[in-house]
Amino acid sequence: MSVDPCFALSAPDLRIVVERDRELARRWVTARPQRFPVDSGGSWIQHDEWRCAAENVLADLRLEMPRRRGCYVAASLPRLPFRDGAFALALSGHFLFTYADRLSSAFHRAALRELLRVAEEVRVYPLRTHLDESAAWHPCLAEYLPGSGVRGQIVVVQPQSDQADRHMLMLSRVGRGRSAGGCPGG
Ligand SMILES: C[S@@+](CC[C@H](N)C(=O)[O-])C[C@H]1O[C@@H](n2cnc3c(N)ncnc32)[C@H](O)[C@@H]1O
Repeated sequence: MSVDPCFALSAPDLRIVVERDRELARRWVTARPQRFPVDSGGSWIQHDEWRCAAENVLADLRLEMPRRRGCYVAASLPRLPFRDGAFALALSGHFLFTYADRLSSAFHRAALRELLRVAEEVRVYPLRTHLDESAAWHPCLAEYLPGSGVRGQIVVVQPQSDQADRHMLMLSRVGRGRSAGGCPGG
Protein backbone atom coordinates (compact mmCIF):
# COMPACT_ATOMS: atom_id res chain seq x y z
CA MET A 1 0.00 0.00 0.00
CA SER A 2 1.27 3.46 -0.88
CA VAL A 3 0.28 6.70 0.89
CA ASP A 4 0.66 10.19 -0.51
CA PRO A 5 -1.58 13.30 -0.53
CA CYS A 6 -1.24 13.43 -4.33
CA PHE A 7 -3.40 10.29 -4.64
CA ALA A 8 -6.40 12.55 -4.03
CA LEU A 9 -5.88 13.78 -7.60
CA SER A 10 -7.55 12.17 -10.61
CA ALA A 11 -5.23 10.16 -12.87
CA PRO A 12 -5.16 12.95 -15.54
CA ASP A 13 -4.34 15.61 -12.93
CA LEU A 14 -1.71 13.36 -11.37
CA ARG A 15 -0.12 12.93 -14.80
CA ILE A 16 0.24 16.72 -15.07
CA VAL A 17 1.97 16.81 -11.66
CA VAL A 18 4.23 13.87 -12.61
CA GLU A 19 5.29 15.57 -15.86
CA ARG A 20 6.01 18.85 -14.06
CA ASP A 21 7.92 17.19 -11.20
CA ARG A 22 9.86 14.93 -13.58
CA GLU A 23 11.55 17.96 -15.10
CA LEU A 24 12.19 19.53 -11.67
CA ALA A 25 13.62 16.22 -10.42
CA ARG A 26 15.77 15.79 -13.55
CA ARG A 27 17.36 19.21 -13.01
CA TRP A 28 17.85 18.61 -9.27
CA VAL A 29 19.38 15.16 -9.81
CA THR A 30 21.71 16.06 -12.67
CA ALA A 31 23.08 18.96 -10.59
CA ARG A 32 24.21 16.34 -8.02
CA PRO A 33 26.33 13.72 -9.83
CA GLN A 34 28.02 12.84 -6.52
CA ARG A 35 24.62 11.66 -5.24
CA PHE A 36 22.99 10.44 -8.48
CA PRO A 37 25.48 9.19 -11.10
CA VAL A 38 24.96 10.24 -14.72
CA ASP A 39 25.79 8.27 -17.88
CA SER A 40 28.30 9.31 -20.55
CA GLY A 41 25.62 11.51 -22.17
CA GLY A 42 25.03 13.37 -18.91
CA SER A 43 21.64 11.74 -18.22
CA TRP A 44 20.73 10.42 -14.79
CA ILE A 45 21.10 6.65 -15.07
CA GLN A 46 17.90 5.83 -13.16
CA HIS A 47 15.70 8.26 -15.06
CA ASP A 48 14.00 5.55 -17.16
CA GLU A 49 13.43 3.37 -14.10
CA TRP A 50 11.69 6.22 -12.25
CA ARG A 51 9.64 7.14 -15.33
CA CYS A 52 8.53 3.51 -15.65
CA ALA A 53 7.50 3.41 -11.97
CA ALA A 54 5.41 6.57 -12.42
CA GLU A 55 3.74 5.13 -15.52
CA ASN A 56 2.85 1.96 -13.59
CA VAL A 57 1.17 4.01 -10.84
CA LEU A 58 -0.74 6.07 -13.40
CA ALA A 59 -1.88 2.86 -15.14
CA ASP A 60 -3.08 1.44 -11.80
CA LEU A 61 -5.06 4.62 -11.10
CA ARG A 62 -6.97 4.54 -14.38
CA LEU A 63 -10.70 3.97 -13.91
CA GLU A 64 -10.55 0.59 -15.64
CA MET A 65 -8.34 -0.71 -12.82
CA PRO A 66 -10.54 0.12 -9.78
CA ARG A 67 -9.33 -2.85 -7.75
CA ARG A 68 -5.77 -1.59 -7.75
CA ARG A 69 -6.84 1.92 -6.79
CA GLY A 70 -7.28 0.70 -3.19
CA CYS A 71 -3.50 0.25 -2.97
CA TYR A 72 -3.07 4.04 -3.17
CA VAL A 73 -4.32 6.02 -0.16
CA ALA A 74 -4.58 9.81 -0.17
CA ALA A 75 -3.38 10.94 3.26
CA SER A 76 -0.80 13.25 4.82
CA LEU A 77 1.55 12.81 7.71
CA PRO A 78 1.32 13.39 10.61
CA ARG A 79 -2.16 11.74 10.45
CA LEU A 80 -2.72 8.38 8.79
CA PRO A 81 -6.12 6.68 8.37
CA PHE A 82 -5.04 3.27 9.70
CA ARG A 83 -5.62 1.46 12.97
CA ASP A 84 -2.90 0.93 15.57
CA GLY A 85 -0.41 -1.76 14.53
CA ALA A 86 -2.07 -2.29 11.14
CA PHE A 87 1.22 -2.93 9.34
CA ALA A 88 4.42 -4.85 9.93
CA LEU A 89 6.56 -2.25 8.18
CA ALA A 90 6.23 1.39 7.11
CA LEU A 91 8.72 2.90 4.64
CA SER A 92 9.17 6.64 4.23
CA GLY A 93 11.27 7.66 1.24
CA HIS A 94 12.48 11.11 0.26
CA PHE A 95 10.05 13.00 2.46
CA LEU A 96 10.98 12.96 6.17
CA PHE A 97 14.41 14.62 6.67
CA THR A 98 14.53 15.45 2.95
CA TYR A 99 12.56 18.63 3.72
CA ALA A 100 14.01 19.22 7.22
CA ASP A 101 14.71 22.80 6.13
CA ARG A 102 10.98 23.56 5.94
CA LEU A 103 9.29 20.87 8.09
CA SER A 104 9.88 21.43 11.81
CA SER A 105 11.30 18.98 14.32
CA ALA A 106 7.81 18.94 15.92
CA PHE A 107 6.40 17.78 12.58
CA HIS A 108 9.07 15.08 12.29
CA ARG A 109 8.41 13.88 15.85
CA ALA A 110 4.66 13.71 15.20
CA ALA A 111 5.16 11.94 11.85
CA LEU A 112 7.52 9.32 13.31
CA ARG A 113 5.14 8.75 16.22
CA GLU A 114 2.25 8.27 13.80
CA LEU A 115 4.24 5.83 11.64
CA LEU A 116 5.14 3.89 14.80
CA ARG A 117 1.47 3.87 15.79
CA VAL A 118 0.40 2.12 12.59
CA ALA A 119 3.47 -0.07 12.01
CA GLU A 120 5.66 -2.33 14.09
CA GLU A 121 8.77 -1.12 12.32
CA VAL A 122 9.55 2.15 10.51
CA ARG A 123 12.38 2.76 8.05
CA VAL A 124 13.26 6.22 6.78
CA TYR A 125 15.64 6.94 3.91
CA PRO A 126 17.48 9.10 3.01
CA LEU A 127 18.54 11.14 6.05
CA ARG A 128 20.12 13.85 3.90
CA THR A 129 18.09 16.94 2.97
CA HIS A 130 17.38 18.15 -0.54
CA LEU A 131 19.98 20.86 0.21
CA ASP A 132 22.59 18.06 0.60
CA GLU A 133 22.94 18.52 4.34
CA SER A 134 22.99 15.56 6.69
CA ALA A 135 19.86 15.34 8.79
CA ALA A 136 21.04 12.21 10.60
CA TRP A 137 21.31 14.03 13.92
CA HIS A 138 18.05 15.87 13.59
CA PRO A 139 16.98 16.74 17.18
CA CYS A 140 13.85 14.61 16.99
CA LEU A 141 15.93 11.43 16.83
CA ALA A 142 16.93 11.78 20.48
CA GLU A 143 13.37 10.83 21.42
CA TYR A 144 13.71 7.46 19.77
CA LEU A 145 16.81 6.16 21.46
CA PRO A 146 16.65 2.92 23.50
CA GLY A 147 14.94 3.43 26.84
CA SER A 148 12.06 5.46 25.39
CA GLY A 149 9.97 2.39 24.47
CA VAL A 150 11.31 2.58 20.92
CA ARG A 151 14.32 0.79 19.58
CA GLY A 152 16.15 3.13 17.23
CA GLN A 153 19.23 2.74 15.11
CA ILE A 154 20.87 4.28 12.09
CA VAL A 155 22.06 1.50 9.80
CA VAL A 156 24.45 1.63 6.87
CA VAL A 157 22.83 0.53 3.61
CA GLN A 158 23.95 -0.03 0.04
CA PRO A 159 21.95 2.70 -1.73
CA GLN A 160 20.33 2.02 -5.09
CA SER A 161 19.79 5.68 -5.94
CA ASP A 162 21.47 8.27 -3.71
CA GLN A 163 25.15 7.26 -3.64
CA ALA A 164 26.05 9.90 -1.03
CA ASP A 165 23.59 8.75 1.61
CA ARG A 166 24.36 5.36 3.08
CA HIS A 167 22.31 5.79 6.24
CA MET A 168 18.79 4.68 7.03
CA LEU A 169 16.85 5.24 10.24
CA MET A 170 15.18 2.11 11.64
CA LEU A 171 12.70 2.40 14.49
CA SER A 172 10.58 -0.23 16.19
CA ARG A 173 8.35 -0.27 19.23
CA VAL A 174 9.54 -2.52 21.98
CA GLY A 175 7.03 -5.16 23.09
CA ARG A 176 4.07 -4.61 20.81
CA GLY A 177 2.44 -7.18 18.51
CA ARG A 178 1.09 -6.81 15.01
CA SER A 179 -2.64 -7.03 14.25
CA ALA A 180 -2.78 -7.15 10.43
CA GLY A 181 -0.56 -7.11 7.33
CA GLY A 182 0.46 -4.51 4.76
CA CYS A 183 3.06 -1.88 4.13
CA PRO A 184 2.47 1.85 3.69
CA GLY A 185 5.09 3.70 1.66
CA GLY A 186 5.40 7.46 1.19
C1 LIG B 1 10.27 13.77 -3.18
S1 LIG B 1 8.70 13.01 -3.26
C2 LIG B 1 9.08 11.33 -2.84
C3 LIG B 1 8.07 10.40 -3.41
C4 LIG B 1 8.33 8.92 -3.09
N1 LIG B 1 8.14 8.66 -1.66
C5 LIG B 1 9.69 8.49 -3.52
O1 LIG B 1 10.53 8.15 -2.68
O2 LIG B 1 9.95 8.49 -4.74
C6 LIG B 1 7.93 13.65 -1.79
C7 LIG B 1 6.47 13.20 -1.69
O3 LIG B 1 5.96 13.57 -0.41
C8 LIG B 1 4.59 13.81 -0.58
N2 LIG B 1 4.08 14.55 0.57
C9 LIG B 1 3.94 15.91 0.71
N3 LIG B 1 3.45 16.20 1.92
C10 LIG B 1 3.25 15.02 2.57
C11 LIG B 1 2.75 14.67 3.86
N4 LIG B 1 2.36 15.61 4.74
N5 LIG B 1 2.67 13.36 4.19
C12 LIG B 1 3.09 12.41 3.31
N6 LIG B 1 3.58 12.67 2.07
C13 LIG B 1 3.66 13.97 1.71
C14 LIG B 1 4.52 14.58 -1.90
O4 LIG B 1 3.22 14.53 -2.47
C15 LIG B 1 5.56 13.84 -2.73
O5 LIG B 1 4.98 12.84 -3.53
